[in-house]
Amino acid sequence: MSTADLPQALFEKVKQLHKEINQYNHQYYVLDQPSVPDAEYDRLMRELLSIEQEYPELKFLDSPSQKVGGQALKAFSQVTHQIPMLSLDNVFSSEEWAAFIKRIQDRLNSDKKLVICAEPKLDGLAVSLRYEKGFLVQAATRGDGSIGENITENIRTIKSIPLKLIGESGIDYPDVIEVRGEVFMPKASFERLNEMAIKKGEKSFANPRNAAAGSLRQLDSKVTAKRNLDFYAYGLGFVGELTVNNTLANEQVFLKNSHYQRLCQIKSLGLPMCPEVRLLDDQQQVQHFYQDILSKRDQLSYEIDGTVLKVDNILLQERLGFVARAPRWAMAYKFPAQEELTVIEDVEFQVGRTGAITPVARLKPVFVGGVTVSNATLHNQSEIERLGLKIGDTVIIRRAGDVIPQIVSVVLEKRTEDAKDVIFPQTCPVCDSKVSKVEGEAVLRCTAGLFCQAQRKEAIKHFASRKAHDVDGLGDKLVEQLVDEGLISTPADLFSLTEIDISTMDRMGLKSAKNLITSIDKAKHTTLAKFIYGLGIREVGEATAANLANYFYTLTAIRTASFEALQAVDDVGAIVAKNIVNFFKEEHNLAVVLALDAIMTWPDIVVKSADELPLADQTFVLTGTLSQMGRSEAKAALQLLGAKVSGSISAKTHFLVAGEKSGSKLIKAQDLGLAVLTEDDLVALLAKYN
Ligand code: IVH
Repeated sequence: MSTADLPQALFEKVKQLHKEINQYNHQYYVLDQPSVPDAEYDRLMRELLSIEQEYPELKFLDSPSQKVGGQALKAFSQVTHQIPMLSLDNVFSSEEWAAFIKRIQDRLNSDKKLVICAEPKLDGLAVSLRYEKGFLVQAATRGDGSIGENITENIRTIKSIPLKLIGESGIDYPDVIEVRGEVFMPKASFERLNEMAIKKGEKSFANPRNAAAGSLRQLDSKVTAKRNLDFYAYGLGFVGELTVNNTLANEQVFLKNSHYQRLCQIKSLGLPMCPEVRLLDDQQQVQHFYQDILSKRDQLSYEIDGTVLKVDNILLQERLGFVARAPRWAMAYKFPAQEELTVIEDVEFQVGRTGAITPVARLKPVFVGGVTVSNATLHNQSEIERLGLKIGDTVIIRRAGDVIPQIVSVVLEKRTEDAKDVIFPQTCPVCDSKVSKVEGEAVLRCTAGLFCQAQRKEAIKHFASRKAHDVDGLGDKLVEQLVDEGLISTPADLFSLTEIDISTMDRMGLKSAKNLITSIDKAKHTTLAKFIYGLGIREVGEATAANLANYFYTLTAIRTASFEALQAVDDVGAIVAKNIVNFFKEEHNLAVVLALDAIMTWPDIVVKSADELPLADQTFVLTGTLSQMGRSEAKAALQLLGAKVSGSISAKTHFLVAGEKSGSKLIKAQDLGLAVLTEDDLVALLAKYN
């Protein structure tokens, strides 16, 4: 079949794929400014490869599938790789991985277990380092796989790359040895670099890999030297001897027959090897390795995007050989993409407990970071302006770890003519009241307070929440329904609900109605601190509420306190004091507070002078994740007992409470020889005094 016999549409499709892939290649490799996520690029490349496989007549000589990367930059001299620098094929599931192993076994005509060398897939850029007689003589980027850029001067600035190998040439290693590996920028350095760029009003980098690429492609190596790049070796290029007349003979007597052992050899010559590399005996271990590295991902100091699995035996590697772009003996088993493309279908506005109006993007559902995402917060107007976002735009969405999904950027190339501006509401989208924007704040707020249906609902949800009055059985949906049906409009109304009222709501029987009434009744008995917290005053969290209660002792004293008096309380600055005064000044708030005061009871606070409290004069620092209580809850409880809770460790600290994933504070406390308490110790301590 000739090209002419193929449907025109398929031909057009291939040309379109060429165009898009070439454009993305250029942005990625030459400009260091990718405009789409890797997952999108990989998908286009896979699509092109599969068409080319089915219709070889559509595999043109200039197809981007014939290239590994982009062209070498003009500004650097070019280096021809003696052995090409190849790429890797990807799999994304255990099934695809199993199919890969099966293909290898078929090709080798053996069903013997394959020993696999497993490595993290480092997210940086590949380089080849050439050592002659032990000295670093040349370093090159991958470029298009055959020709790269000469970046020797820049590589010399990387502290972990030795300029001279350990040992003696011809005895400990061959005369010529090319070490291949990944140059990357550690996460911490990347963050510091971007912070500085933003401060100076310069452009920031999208991710550590672009930062690493941008830093290596500096014509002035002094700039590279400041960038704190690092390197891990993962393989070898050319290895050989310089003979008498200076011609090369490929000589491998120095090298072991196992990829893993070769990496260890490279390490003993003084080059860094990733500490996570493992030798695995079977497929179950491979799955374990993948899961283990995935769960460690956020804790690693460098960015990775999957694992690389290699047949360990070099003789088998040689038998398996290469296909166009990649070795048959290695495979990247990648993590689910953390960035994907999707479309903004609409932008809606939500009203929160404090009236803050938040734009929320409704997305075309997309699978990213292991879950399907269909909404993303856009935070506020300045965020929308920063992104330059319109409704109908294609955007990059990112979801890393358990972080909430974020819109990273708009793909302008994909904007259509009917993209619409995001218009902010002039009045509250729920109650139509006036909206206001406080000077210096990015947020737009509805001014109606508890008149606004949305704020009523949120105030009631907050009042009933676990850390406030913990009304068991009163879920968000039920609150919304009760408000929508007009049965309640303030937290005080909860106490006049009847079993009959509740049992008429969706999915509520008489039994659950009875239980709910019991938990509402239980909520009548509380503490002053919880009462204040439960009111949901802006920026008055548990710790501040406890401080207010301990300072003023009575509700009347708190609600009539002046702006100045309030600021005498720990943790209360001008902004919080103003929020408190404004809250009680608002008539409908005050009416609700007085109604609640008539219904609810709390024990009197026994007036003790501060130095009579059991933990008076003791300074605590809290760090890490506390699983039985929040950090703010722990802080409030300690303060109630007279302790000081500070944010940083010093010689004045008495105790460090170290939750899970404690970092530098724990190390510092240990260095200073301070008493370290676990969360269980803290719980026991609090129980002793309560
Ligand atoms: S081996 C012939 N090992 O992934 C095999 N590559 O997608 C060549 N990469 O260009 C690569 N970590 O920049 C290998 N442990 C690792 C790797 C790794 C990251 C990068 C490398 C390569 C790209 C291919």
